[in-house]
Amino acid sequence: MKKDYEKQIQELRKQMTLEEKIGQLQQCGPSLVGAFEVSFEELLDMMFDGRITKEEFERLMGTARQDFHEEDLRAGKVGSYNGIGDAATANRLQKIAVEETRLGIPLLFGYDVIHGFRTVTPIPLAESCAWDPTLWEKTARVAAEEATAAGVHMTFAPMVDVAKDARWGRVSEGAGEDALLNSMYGAAKVKGFQGEDLAKEDSMAACVKHLAAYGAGEAGRDYNRVDLSLQRLWEEYLPPYKACIDAGARAVMPAFNDINGVPCSVNAWLLRDVLRKKWGFDGLVVSDSNAIAECVSHGIAQDKKDAARQAVLAGMDLDMSSNSYSAHLKELIESGEIPESILDEAVEDVLRIKFELGLFEHPYQTNETREQNTMLKLEYRAIALEAAEKSIVLLKNEDHILPLKPGTKLGVFGALAADRGQMTGAWAIGARPEDCISIVDALKTNNVQYQYSADGTDLSKIAAVSDVLIAAVGEMKEESGEAASRADITLKQEDMELVRALKATGKPVVAVLFNGRPLAIPELDRTVPAIVEAWHPGIYAGSAVMHVLFGITNPSGKLTTTFPAAAGQCPMYYAHPNTGRPGGKSKFTSKYLDAPTEPLYPFGYGLSYTDYTYEDLELEKGKDSLLVRVTVRNTGKKAGEEITQCYVQMPCAKRVRPVRELKAFAKTALKPGEARQVVLEIAYDSLGYYDWDMNWVSYEGKLNVFVGGNVRDTLEKELLLR
Ligand code: NOJ
Repeated sequence: MKKDYEKQIQELRKQMTLEEKIGQLQQCGPSLVGAFEVSFEELLDMMFDGRITKEEFERLMGTARQDFHEEDLRAGKVGSYNGIGDAATANRLQKIAVEETRLGIPLLFGYDVIHGFRTVTPIPLAESCAWDPTLWEKTARVAAEEATAAGVHMTFAPMVDVAKDARWGRVSEGAGEDALLNSMYGAAKVKGFQGEDLAKEDSMAACVKHLAAYGAGEAGRDYNRVDLSLQRLWEEYLPPYKACIDAGARAVMPAFNDINGVPCSVNAWLLRDVLRKKWGFDGLVVSDSNAIAECVSHGIAQDKKDAARQAVLAGMDLDMSSNSYSAHLKELIESGEIPESILDEAVEDVLRIKFELGLFEHPYQTNETREQNTMLKLEYRAIALEAAEKSIVLLKNEDHILPLKPGTKLGVFGALAADRGQMTGAWAIGARPEDCISIVDALKTNNVQYQYSADGTDLSKIAAVSDVLIAAVGEMKEESGEAASRADITLKQEDMELVRALKATGKPVVAVLFNGRPLAIPELDRTVPAIVEAWHPGIYAGSAVMHVLFGITNPSGKLTTTFPAAAGQCPMYYAHPNTGRPGGKSKFTSKYLDAPTEPLYPFGYGLSYTDYTYEDLELEKGKDSLLVRVTVRNTGKKAGEEITQCYVQMPCAKRVRPVRELKAFAKTALKPGEARQVVLEIAYDSLGYYDWDMNWVSYEGKLNVFVGGNVRDTLEKELLLR
């Protein structure tokens, strides 16, 4: 039961001076000072544009001192920190807040715990391919236990931005292209992060992001404009945020982008009408980094003062790093441009989450001993391995070349096969390369016979003594994530050259992909008989891949994102409308002259070392939901887990509907020869859409239902909905 702190919040707020109130709305991070004359951002630019090397950058960073703005903190001008992930620093700063400020209001520490803190689990896109809410919750719990031990109170996660464009680098941070999957993924994460009681020392508040539709940026370019019909926004993009709020998420981060011309940071419709009024959210709204000030660059605010005014009026509580509130709110209140009651609402939201987290009673929720004893526990590692294995998607396996027989001699190629640091992927701040197991590490510890070459040197020599060649190719961790959009998402030239050279030896080649987004890999698909999509799998990368290669684990992951056949198809996603001229043989149909209309690998797709068949699809109209029954049979020789998916199509509606919409799924363990009936439920409430005038219409008429192991290969049945 949620405890009611409203009386305490009001009492405390009434004691606060205007300056103290504004202080509570200021979130800052440690700034780097001392080692160089330029700002951190300029230094980063210098590295990216080649003025200094990566090594020089790292050396300078190593000598830099962190400024924690203690003087401001003492003066009551800081309410929250971002980016502090160690118990000693957190407690030192907390002590200043509690003992040296006039009212002793504790600090709130936020941190990007995206897919694990120290025990780094697969990137979210990978983990979503497990289609497994229990697993999603478990890995979030591990993240929360470790992060809270390091002093973190709130994570800037889950990210549930539906992402249909593979060019966008941040597809790696969410659960792919589907609203239902993102909703279920997000809700599970919220439960895992927050635990049963937010006040417990190992519970961490979830900050759902990025409200809204950050993944719909035009052309997949990060931070780009989002221009969407309201129907699409409500049907395809908003449901996951809402699902997280329904699951109890206590914080929300508005997105950097604008929606239909109004940046989310100052969008009163989004933050007040939708989030607060319609969805009943009463938690904390935290800006994205510097996002309030960036409304000036958007061209919607005259200056930072104007941006601060618009943001607070729109319902933005906490200013992350832009110093717009700290610099201007006082003047705005004193001049009467903003009523103090608006400021009070924001302050109350900050105090509320601090009460709910139990910070007033226990401001020091951890210590260095707990921190040391919590990281990388054995049970956490076991979960990380399970998650990595369940995230892997087998994309191709011609002639059953996989699994490899015990004793197979391997030739292993590609830098990614031995680079531990790359295995954690984007957004793994607490990761340490020494915690990670690469493919080469795993082969070595398990006494597999192998020879390794990072760049293909000695290729012929190695190939001559190997039975099978492994090519570890894909993306480095900086090539996906924030500010990592790519226009060409094919495999890099040097990777493809390596693969071609391996193929030329005549030995069978297995490609293992490490990447943070779907790639357009038609040539790879034509060239090699087997492809294992490992994504960026986290600390157990090498072990998980080795288990799959040798069949110790039967792969069960299925794509939550479509793999295009050409980069030019982007955005490529399964739930598209038909058009009046669906792609066909005739010229005047919706297609490309120089690329297929179909993807390379469809949504929901993934192979196994066994085979499954689907039989006896039955539909039954229940009271509140449609019941879909199907028999799934394991016809192969290995035990496995099959992910059964159910899609619908509304072939005639008042607004055109997608050719398929995912409505339910289930994961079933099946022994060889075993058959089970899988029952899927589709609530009637979910069988609807928005009409032209934005009224929700419950669908009536013929409904096509599709069930199978991916969106393309399905059984089909229709029924009449009245
Ligand atoms: C920017 C990113 O957009 C957001 O996802 C992240 O949480 C903040 N920076 C804080 O690091």
